[in-house]
Amino acid sequence: MQVVSSGLEGVCVGDSHISLVDGQAGRLILRGFHLHQLGEKSFEELARFLWEGGACDEESLVQPLGEARVRVAPLLREALPLAARLAPIEWLRLALDRLPDSQNPLDWVAALGVALALRRNPQAQPEAKADHVSDIARMAGLQFPDGLRQYWICVAEHGMNASTFTARVVASTRAGHRAALSAALGALQGPLHGGAPGPVLDMLDELQRAPDAAAWFQHKLASGERLMGFGHRVYRVRDPRAEVLRLACQKVSEQSSELAERLRFAERMEKLATSALAAHKPGRVLQTNVEYYTALLLEAIGFQREEFTAVFACGRVLGWLAHIFEQESEGRLIRPEVRYVGPMPDQG
Ligand code: ACO
Repeated sequence: MQVVSSGLEGVCVGDSHISLVDGQAGRLILRGFHLHQLGEKSFEELARFLWEGGACDEESLVQPLGEARVRVAPLLREALPLAARLAPIEWLRLALDRLPDSQNPLDWVAALGVALALRRNPQAQPEAKADHVSDIARMAGLQFPDGLRQYWICVAEHGMNASTFTARVVASTRAGHRAALSAALGALQGPLHGGAPGPVLDMLDELQRAPDAAAWFQHKLASGERLMGFGHRVYRVRDPRAEVLRLACQKVSEQSSELAERLRFAERMEKLATSALAAHKPGRVLQTNVEYYTALLLEAIGFQREEFTAVFACGRVLGWLAHIFEQESEGRLIRPEVRYVGPMPDQG
């Protein structure tokens, strides 16, 4: 008798050295460190740490990643006329396709960041000596680069989520980095995975206009709608990244009264939403997930709602690559089974 787990819930697909998502205790551990212990790392340090483990202060990746940005920018600029017709995440997929095949992971990381920036500012030129986050923020005309750094560190890696699993499935066929990353971008596009933060802001906007927020939540849940930014497949407590990002919002709000006001409102709404969810689904803990405060932070930094998923991808690419390397070095072809429940031929 084959055992079926809908959505592969609770199924363990292998061993990994990269991260532990502890859904019961609400801990996220990356190569032996709590997420909050890594909060001061640079993007480049985190890349090396996720890919290789160990000390992060070895040879810096700042210059090689900067050179990669300079290398990929002209190739992406040529394709920019197509970007206007594509959703930002589709443009990132196209950006990967514009590059020659490369074994240098920095090329893929650079391509996603530069593609994001050029879509906003086609004339922008990368600077090889700058660090990745400051350079992308400058090119893209964003504010609060340290908020962006904190965001990308926070979302860089998160166990066997849908897009990482997709990347590993494709890497397991030895299809190469471009194919694996491109597939991961596709998986990230759906609202149940990476596509929620835009709708979180839509929800907050509606709530701001609602005369009675508690009644608004009850009505939405009673009509079968999901509250964006709440619930998680693995966490049975509040997603630890929600707090890291709430604190990042708090820090940025010291320089932005607009964000400070938005944050106070969102914190009040979070309490009402989680009470409404507890009353609606008493048997299942539905708590705040990473997308809730992501929405506020990315808005304050200057991104458009439609860009949020693409921004997430530019950080998560570090984790995808870590898993692709691990899959290539240790993994077998991923090929599960499915239980056939269709009809059989008449003759058996
Ligand atoms: N609002 C209302 N009800 C919810 C929510 C929610 N946010 N989340 C789950 N539920 C309910 C479901 O309707 C379901 O009820 P049912 O058993 O009566 O059908 C029950 O809780 C279990 O839900 P599942 O979909 O089985 O839970 P799963 O583990 O598959 O879903 C998910 C996790 C997709 C994140 C879900 O909680 C959700 O849709 N949340 C809203 C979208 C969201 O915030 N997505 C971002 C996730 S974080 C990330 O991936 C980066």
